[in-house]
Parts: sequence; C-alpha cells; structure tokens
Amino acid sequence: MAVTAKIAPSMLSSDFANLASEAERMLNCGADWLHMDIMDGHFVPNLTIGAPVIESLRKHTKAYLDCHLMVTNPLDYVEPMGKAGASGFTFHVEVSKDNWQELVQRIKSKGMRPGVALKPGTPIEEVYPLVEGENPVEMVLVMTVKPGFGGQKFMPEMMDKVRTLRKKYPSLDIEVDGGLGPSTIEMAASAGANCIVAGSSVFGAAEPANVISLMRKSVNDNQKSS
Ligand code: DX5
Ligand code: ZN
Repeated sequence: MAVTAKIAPSMLSSDFANLASEAERMLNCGADWLHMDIMDGHFVPNLTIGAPVIESLRKHTKAYLDCHLMVTNPLDYVEPMGKAGASGFTFHVEVSKDNWQELVQRIKSKGMRPGVALKPGTPIEEVYPLVEGENPVEMVLVMTVKPGFGGQKFMPEMMDKVRTLRKKYPSLDIEVDGGLGPSTIEMAASAGANCIVAGSSVFGAAEPANVISLMRKSVNDNQKSS
C-alpha cells in the first residue's frame, strides 16, 4: 500500500506573534499538516512553545497539528497536549526506553496519533520495537539535523535510516525533519520519506506554495516508481 505525501511547514520558522495568520497562510499555500516544535530547554538547548499555545492556535484552525515533543518527560505532556487539541504526538525514543508502551497507550486514549522520533546519533534499530509492538506508533520521525533549531544543514547520511525503515515497513508514515527544501527533497523522497517537515525553506521562500508543491511532487513521483 502506497503512503501519501504530507507536507508539514515547521511553524518554528513562522512569526510567532502572528501564529494564527501564519498557519492560515501555510494552509492556503497547500500545507497538509502544521509541524509544531515543543522544546523544554532541557532535552534540547532551546525553549519554544507548549500546550497553551497549541490551545490558542486550535481555536483558529482545524488543521492537523503535528506536534514534535523535544522534551525530557513526554509523559507529563500527554494530558495537556491532548486537551489543547494536538493531533499527532511524537516523542523521542532516547527518553522513552522504559515507558514507551504506557506513553503510546495514553497518547491514543487522548485521541492523538503516536509517533516516535530519533536524533541523528541514535541507531534506527531502537525504534523497531515501537513499530512492531502490540500497540504500535503510527509514524517514525527521522531527524536530519540535531534537534533544537531551525535553519541547519540537512544530513544526507540519515537517508540510510529512511531506506532501511521503508524497506521494512512499506506502509509506515516516515517523517524527515531538518534542512529539507528544494535542494534536499529528492534525497529524502527517493529514500522513502513521505512526511516532510520544512521550516526555513518554506517560510524563507518568496512563493511558499511553489516549494510545497515541488516537495509534494517529489514524494508522489518516488512513491509511484517504488
Ligand atoms: C528542529 C526542529 C525542526 C525545525 C526544522 O529541532 O525539529 O522542525 O523547525 O527547520 P528547518 O526546516 O529550517 O531545518
Ligand atoms: Zn520538528
């Protein structure tokens, strides 16, 4: 079964003071999801937004809010993020080795879609149990930069992880995050990624709609030929 393209502008690169209108602008440009980077200043050396901002944004949009939790204690965020209206809840495998089963179960019970993310230095094998478990995650996010900041350089060596995952799990949602844009999308799409996060390349473009449609086409073309 082929997977579908989901293009997810990272709102980390938006004007946070105008989040609702930035979200609307991206949806009008053809975005499928809005990627929301939640950082706690501990798991990563940056602090961004949390459940109160998701709750405020939810009042202005029905869009799928693809929340990426770069936090040390993801379990503590499940309830507030669920109440706030998050759609996807992606936690990091590095901080969930002992409680991922409970996490996945709670995320689902709050009506969110569970995903697992891994840092560049984390081996891909670490997510296998979470994809193959009885109560599995529904997406794997492969970080293609060190988590924490937008605007970093894409790491092509992460594509081995994407290829390995796609071979093993033909219908899994595989997301890539960091440094994606017109010059790197082909590498990610041909490796098998179908959910594409892009911050600076979309928000920095004169015509974000063109960047979004170019990335969608690359994913679709590669899915067709696979
Ligand atoms: C980095 C975040 C990314 C970031 C991507 O820790 O997870 O979502 O916003 O930004 P770009 O596309 O600029 O690399
Ligand atoms: Zn992210």
